[in-house]
Amino acid sequence: MERIRLGVIGCGGMSRVHLATAGGKSPHTSEALRPFAERVEVYALADVDLARAEAHRQAYGGEYVTDDPERLFSDPNVDAVLITTWHDTHAAYSLRALESGKHVLIEKPMAMTERECDDIVAAVDRTKLKYMVAFRCRFGRGALDVKREIPHPKNVIAHARVAGIWPETSWAQDPVKGGGQILSQGCHIVDLMFFLAGSEPESVYATGGVFHHSRPDVIDTINASIRFKNGSVGAFLGGDGGTANLMLGHPLPCGCPFWVMAVDQGRSGLTIDHGHDARFESRVPEAEWKPPYDQKIYSQELGQERASGLPEILPTFARCILRDEEPPATAVDGARTTRFILKCFESARTGRVIRFE
Ligand SMILES: NC(=O)c1ccc[n+]([C@@H]2O[C@H](COP(=O)([O-])OP(=O)(O)OC[C@H]3O[C@@H](n4cnc5c(N)ncnc54)[C@H](O)[C@@H]3O)[C@@H](O)[C@H]2O)c1
Repeated sequence: MERIRLGVIGCGGMSRVHLATAGGKSPHTSEALRPFAERVEVYALADVDLARAEAHRQAYGGEYVTDDPERLFSDPNVDAVLITTWHDTHAAYSLRALESGKHVLIEKPMAMTERECDDIVAAVDRTKLKYMVAFRCRFGRGALDVKREIPHPKNVIAHARVAGIWPETSWAQDPVKGGGQILSQGCHIVDLMFFLAGSEPESVYATGGVFHHSRPDVIDTINASIRFKNGSVGAFLGGDGGTANLMLGHPLPCGCPFWVMAVDQGRSGLTIDHGHDARFESRVPEAEWKPPYDQKIYSQELGQERASGLPEILPTFARCILRDEEPPATAVDGARTTRFILKCFESARTGRVIRFE
């Protein structure tokens, strides 16, 4: 395949972030990935709001726009699709794309129910097509340093309590279209927690509830304790209406209250803000382990965009297709994250420890 002709479904804010790298146009994509980005061509764009699709075509190119994603699925010229719609369509569009022989790059969360997760994992197994979830934290510079330095943590502590209260009018807060802030946004940090833990979950016990919202079906606060299958443990604190203003600038030098800490017998690594930055601390002799640095604020050194790794996501997807490589975040990773959050909700509702099969 010389070029990857991309169909875009959902022409809103996040698709802009990815499409800015198509054709190798982003100065923030690394040199190593630029050759793959150059081979991505925006070919067709779909949105229920045609004006949005047309605005994207003006900005990023494309042969046509449509308000019917089926046109992309049945178009033999479309090699791969980028799905950046609201969450209730993610599973159905994933399955249609895979059935139609298209590779898929999908924004998080991959799916909203366990059944959808199972169906997507099975469809990827069956079709052998590339399926990548755009879990951005796996591309963060700080997160990659913590993963490299502390590969087998005994304890992984994840914090994702955000500032403010998400408006009830936001589609992401709608129980059907979005699933609420924890599924919509906390999923980034849940994925990062699993990425750093390097293990499947065995069980979770969570407390939580609806403290800041009017809908009883969208849990907005979760405090979870996790046991991983490799014997290590973890914690996840998620939700909105949170503690961010206490965290702003102190003690962390960033405006984002997302962080994950990995601890392994006197070696600690903390990655901050979607995995952009990192800190290390050691209590073991230097002969055993010397942290690479005390603190790196990549988002100041390199700028927010490079530190975030966001300009690497679409180019990485292209490389996986062109070189037949396994994506860095697969359908199995997407399913684990959705399943984990749903089991946190179940535990908080029932008061029981929930085990993973
Ligand atoms: N990785 C990140 O940091 C990050 C940040 C924001 C959003 N996101 C994710 O990106 C995705 C899109 O979010 P957004 O902020 O761009 O939302 P958005 O509302 O700006 O864009 C979504 C677009 O999808 C269109 N759409 C909705 N339903 C559709 C359907 N059935 N068929 C075709 N088009 C449809 C809407 O008209 C809209 O143009 C979501 O999965 C969201 O969670 C990720």
